[in-house]
Amino acid sequence: MSENPGAPLEETPAKHTAPQHPLTDSVALADAAEALLRSNDRGQYTVPAPDLYPHQWLWDSAFIAIGIAHYDLERAQNEIRHLVSGQWSNGMLPHMIFNSSPAFRGDRNAWRSWVNPASPDHVVTSGITQPPVLAEAIVQIGSHMSAAERRAWYKEVFPALLAYHEWLYEERDPHHEGLTLQIHPWETGLDNTPPWMAELREHLLPWWIRVLQNTKLSSFVRYIRRDTRRIPPEQRFTSTEVLALFDAQKRLRRKNYDIHRILNHSLFTIEDLTFNSIFIRANEHLEHIAKALRKQLPAELQARMLHTREALELLWDDQSLQYYSRDFITHRLLRTPSVATLLPLYGGAVSKERAAQLVSLLENDQLFGSAYPAPSVPVSSEWFDADRYWQGPSWVNINWLIIEGLHRYGYHDHAEALRETTLEMVGQGGFYEYFNPLDGSPLGSPDFSWTAALALDLLHRKKK
Ligand code: GLC
Repeated sequence: MSENPGAPLEETPAKHTAPQHPLTDSVALADAAEALLRSNDRGQYTVPAPDLYPHQWLWDSAFIAIGIAHYDLERAQNEIRHLVSGQWSNGMLPHMIFNSSPAFRGDRNAWRSWVNPASPDHVVTSGITQPPVLAEAIVQIGSHMSAAERRAWYKEVFPALLAYHEWLYEERDPHHEGLTLQIHPWETGLDNTPPWMAELREHLLPWWIRVLQNTKLSSFVRYIRRDTRRIPPEQRFTSTEVLALFDAQKRLRRKNYDIHRILNHSLFTIEDLTFNSIFIRANEHLEHIAKALRKQLPAELQARMLHTREALELLWDDQSLQYYSRDFITHRLLRTPSVATLLPLYGGAVSKERAAQLVSLLENDQLFGSAYPAPSVPVSSEWFDADRYWQGPSWVNINWLIIEGLHRYGYHDHAEALRETTLEMVGQGGFYEYFNPLDGSPLGSPDFSWTAALALDLLHRKKK
């Protein structure tokens, strides 16, 4: 959903002719993906979807740039350059950079990034971050370049990337535990993922939302939401979830997005599995980039990066044989299963035995081995809802990360199978935001950029 449900829809959505699906031919699919990315291009950045998401999002743009790099390297670099232009002076990369059109004043006002002195002057941004996929995008773009071009590219973006990773340790790992903490479900990118929603329901729902929920009045929210004007409500957040997420965001704003004030009031703080798994891989990329530039990373940063690889094991649960996110304050594992459990494969820091156990979850048709994997919640979970956002559907970006992880641990056939079913869903249904994991039907927003970008990338990946 949009970060401001009351804001107007984008006024002049770009026109393009939707391709006829199914597109079973890979050349036609690649052409359609490129056409969609071009049509969602707003000059300096690509919108995730023309109607629903009119701003720039952090991990969206990273995935989008990976796709664009296949046909226009300069444009892919510009996507990243614009992302980095929103960096705060403390190093944070915000999860959103707002469209400056007067039509979106409401969205900008909802966040008011200017309340924090570290926010940039020339753009309005959100006050939280999103999974650190930036390093991956930088390296993927670099892989299309000559050695000299790559060096120049790395040199240009290295300072921003380094500052971002240092900020993540400085502000988000205050006790030097090796794991970074996240302060809002939007920071995980998996907005209404069950482990976070379970916490929210149990501990953090403000009284007024509980009252609304009990009196069923919360359904009035439907009338002021932007997302459910276009997309069936049963595919989106529940109204209670929307209210709770906005309430949590407002509390962060009241603390001026100042991490010390936020921690003092112990608002929502979770060491998220998705975020930390991606961070481990991103740290590896940062090391690789530094090496290519013959630069030495600060010794303290290197030590902390190593610590993070080891600390992931703290998220392992010996009883259910899965990884989970953890409460930052109490260190309690949040044992509500989700697809995040598979992402340590992408992180690449777990043992072969652990990887084999994760692959067995992916093979199990009661868990993640549905006809069109990987469901965002195991099929047998009480939370599973095949059509609802991050509570069941399969997402192309998560599949892309899992495919990378499977290759990493030598499961090339599994990776190839997942690549094929992912492309089949997209070819049959179109560039939708997410897909029903049981029958592959398309859900959420049409014309979704990262679906197109990563499908394009997957089309270029032949069996390794
Ligand atoms: C939704 C997704 C989030 C994404 C955003 C823009 O909020 O949950 O991951 O970044 O849309 O596409």
